[in-house]
Amino acid sequence: MRTPVYVANWKMFHSLETADAWLAWWHQHPLAGLPDSCTIVLCPPAPLIYPLYAELQRWHETTLRLGGQTLHPSFKGAFTGDISGVALWSVGAQAVIIGHSERRRHHHETDAQIGDMVQQAFLCGLMPIVCVGETSEERDAGETVDVLTRQLAGALGHLSAATLANRQGDPDLPPLVVAYEPVWAIGSGKPATAPLAEEALQIVMSWLVTQFGETAAERMALLYGGSVTASNVGTFTALDACDGVLVGGASLEPADFQSIVMAGLMGQGYGVSVQPLSLHLTGDSLT
Ligand code: PGA
Repeated sequence: MRTPVYVANWKMFHSLETADAWLAWWHQHPLAGLPDSCTIVLCPPAPLIYPLYAELQRWHETTLRLGGQTLHPSFKGAFTGDISGVALWSVGAQAVIIGHSERRRHHHETDAQIGDMVQQAFLCGLMPIVCVGETSEERDAGETVDVLTRQLAGALGHLSAATLANRQGDPDLPPLVVAYEPVWAIGSGKPATAPLAEEALQIVMSWLVTQFGETAAERMALLYGGSVTASNVGTFTALDACDGVLVGGASLEPADFQSIVMAGLMGQGYGVSVQPLSLHLTGDSLT
């Protein structure tokens, strides 16, 4: 059984004030029955990572982990405005999104750079969340398999099963996460159908099995991303090849994201509920 993984990608939304309010809401609405293996990662804009990390420490909040939205392909250097893996790690990030289509499009990130970013993530003990996915033109031209294969080879072709097995960082996290995010489904309100997502995720899975072997691939997590909501998430997480979701717009409100986590886990056969408030509010937990 692979690990359920839920990732919130806040993109360039939220300020410190609204992010704090998000976290306070989450803290006041704890989930009961969350499987131990479940990984929930919040990826805020980089300057918000440390204050959120400090808040999580203060609350002894253990259900949430933090991640970056990208990192530079080099370890350090004269790259004004860029963020290194080690800087992310040093402020409490445990994961990082790599190769999101918005980065590929707006920042012209290449497959080779994305491969270097994955290496940096491994070097810095960050769990890479690698995004792959075709545009609608590529899908219409029948190029989906080629695009996915090319992107996977660029991001992960230089890695071995041994590198994955020796990844630094929290051993409870999967060594690698791959998210299938069809570009046409992101932010469009038009998610992929479940069979289409399953087909693409199976392509990803068989590539990973060929590259790393079945045992290593079994420890990774595969996600679907693109217009995920609480009403459609269960159709994705019920799929054989899907371990969770990467959520953009619907992660900005904590109640929406929590509904997605709950409905998604239900699709995976877990019964999760919001813990009654009276059981939770003790001592200074609301201060
Ligand atoms: P969306 O974004 O959920 O708003 O479609 C997903 C993503 O960009 O990762």
